[in-house]
Amino acid sequence: MNVREEVMHLVGQIKRQLISSQEIGLDAPFVSTNSLNYLKKGPQMDAAPLGEDFCWSSLKELKDFMSNCERCRLSTERKNMVFGEGLPHARLVFVGEAPGMEEDVTGRPFVGPAGKLLTDIIKAMGLTREEVYIGNIVKCRPPDNRDPEPDEIGMCLPFLKAQISFIEPEIICSLGRIPAQSLVSRNFKITRDRGQWHYFLGIPLMPTYHPAYLLRYPHAKRDVWEDMQKIMKELRLKDPRELRDQNKD
Ligand code: URA
Repeated sequence: MNVREEVMHLVGQIKRQLISSQEIGLDAPFVSTNSLNYLKKGPQMDAAPLGEDFCWSSLKELKDFMSNCERCRLSTERKNMVFGEGLPHARLVFVGEAPGMEEDVTGRPFVGPAGKLLTDIIKAMGLTREEVYIGNIVKCRPPDNRDPEPDEIGMCLPFLKAQISFIEPEIICSLGRIPAQSLVSRNFKITRDRGQWHYFLGIPLMPTYHPAYLLRYPHAKRDVWEDMQKIMKELRLKDPRELRDQNKD
């Protein structure tokens, strides 16, 4: 870890400490409620508030609620809402952009060609799809796979926040430009800013390229693997190839 990463890591730990102190009713002595709210929210895209009637006690309840969601225009053309899937308390959460055609038909995230590549990346990290959690910024397919609009993202973001609060992962990995701009900063530039630690809801977030980009530009796989190695180091995961080599000796 270089000095910048170490400082970011420390800041993230302080943020989480402050947020959990507030949640269990302790005073956070040097931080105003406004600053704490900012820390919780971060500089990401504005989420359209849900109001006080919305409250779920589990991922399952949230999923059931969302299957009838009509908060934005994407609901009118979807076949299936794609909630996300994986281990309910996964250590690692991947966040993509939006369902594509195959995802819309099956109701499952990342099952098309980009999904197959993501599954391979997860395996190369020594994990399986069942051991992580995979979700998206918006849960319904944008027509003709266009980018989701900012208001659609704002409508769906509170659900992703709720999802992540239930899962409580140690690390989030965002895939591509739109998730990084939604979760980190509107000015995020994927070619310039990927591969550096950021925070969402106080959780370390590693932004990398979208697997669909890798299908078009395979040379970028090297960068993604570097980013995945940073995640593996944080999660103390061993490269399965190294393990295989060790067993040969
Ligand atoms: N691309 C995404 O961003 N998400 C999916 O679920 C599938 C493809």
